[in-house]
Amino acid sequence: MTHTVFHYPTLADASKEAEKLGVFLPLRQDTAALFAPLAIGNHAASNRIAFQPMEGTDGTLDGAPGEWTRRRYLRFAQGGPGLIWFEAVATVPEAQASAHQLRITEENLDNYKKLLDEVRETSLKENSYAPLIVMQATHSGRYSKPHGYPEPLIAYHCPPLEDMPLPDDRIVSDDDLQRYEEAYARAAKLCQEAGFDGMDVKCCHRYLACELLSAYTRPGPYGGSYENRTRFLKNCYRAAQSTVTREGFFLTSRMNVYDGFPYPWGFGVNEKDGLKPDLTEPIRLIGELKAEFNIPVLNVTMGNPYKNPHVNRPYDRGNYVPDEHPLEGESRMMAGVSEIQHALPDVPVIGSAFSYLRQWAGNLAAGMVADGHCAMAGFGRMAFAYPDFIHDLKEKGMMDPKKVCVTCGGCAALLRAGTPAGCVVRDREAYKP
Ligand SMILES: Cc1cc2nc3c(=O)[nH]c(=O)nc-3n(C[C@H](O)[C@H](O)[C@H](O)COP(=O)(O)O)c2cc1C
Repeated sequence: MTHTVFHYPTLADASKEAEKLGVFLPLRQDTAALFAPLAIGNHAASNRIAFQPMEGTDGTLDGAPGEWTRRRYLRFAQGGPGLIWFEAVATVPEAQASAHQLRITEENLDNYKKLLDEVRETSLKENSYAPLIVMQATHSGRYSKPHGYPEPLIAYHCPPLEDMPLPDDRIVSDDDLQRYEEAYARAAKLCQEAGFDGMDVKCCHRYLACELLSAYTRPGPYGGSYENRTRFLKNCYRAAQSTVTREGFFLTSRMNVYDGFPYPWGFGVNEKDGLKPDLTEPIRLIGELKAEFNIPVLNVTMGNPYKNPHVNRPYDRGNYVPDEHPLEGESRMMAGVSEIQHALPDVPVIGSAFSYLRQWAGNLAAGMVADGHCAMAGFGRMAFAYPDFIHDLKEKGMMDPKKVCVTCGGCAALLRAGTPAGCVVRDREAYKP
């Protein structure tokens, strides 16, 4: 399969290309479905658009949101999503993905409270409603870089992710995992006090909790069987839930339902068939989280942003060109999201990775929501580039091709460099490459 650069002047052109490739891409001209409210637990999101967690590497060195963080979230708030899934916030210092990743503590709690108040006020003023706001609590695991250089804490040796095997002492011990579980209790308490509506026990993109789901080769209580591989995630939930005192505050996850690495290195893959998805275990796990913790929503994603970024966020330009058409990547994500939503109709699912479709992203979101493939559509890179697109969709029925994300990878490059991240194309004054 050759790689193409996005060129679909009309929605029909995009549909035709999907048809030619034989891939699942439910595009819909009418975007009205995105403007119906959605019940999430005992809250209501005002529309079906979520802004996905997007780490900005712009916190202060004590983990508080900085001026650039504030700028990003006020732009998001003006845009009017029904839900803002607030970026990865570290639970312990050694789990930070960069020196400037956010980390919530007793000492900096007031900064979070103030930011959330401002976000809600801004959206109320601009849109007459406030977004729901979920905080993503993380342990960066293999990708920990608390001092700006790699200090990986891994679940097990994973050859596809280790060109040279890391030293054995980089494997997190069972005792450390128990300590990290408790850190989610602290985070949940602070998260409630700060005023978030819910907390995500982050379980995606091969950070620690996600990596443990594929720890088939790890000995002991956190590896091998399904029960052992899911133990850390569930214990984090149990620890977090023990602190919940605020009425309506909920727990949830952003979860990789497919890692894109072959068995025994990937979760959600067919054991006998290379990279083919098999969502049996993810569906079982989400069902169990619903039964035990009553999760009112789930954010579905896939892949690893370092090793197979095309699975995570299909794109045209980047450091390496994957051997698949970007619409195949889109289709894999949409089909996976849909399979989860249909298997678990009681859990509203948020889909990911719409930004590749540029000016037709809202049409894909509308098709997915209107046809019941997911309850909400989550936008990542597009929120950096064009946070105002919801207004255009609502008022003009379409997005402006001159404002959309062009999937250049510039925002991810800023993130990798450990500098404040945003759109280097559409917000150039602020984020110069
Ligand atoms: C700069 C940058 C930062 C990101 N930060 C996070 C994060 O903190 N948590 C997370 O779950 N995903 C993160 N992601 C992934 C996005 O949320 C999203 O899944 C991905 O960009 C695909 O969606 P899109 O096609 O709408 O961009 C990040 C992606 C980028 C490019």
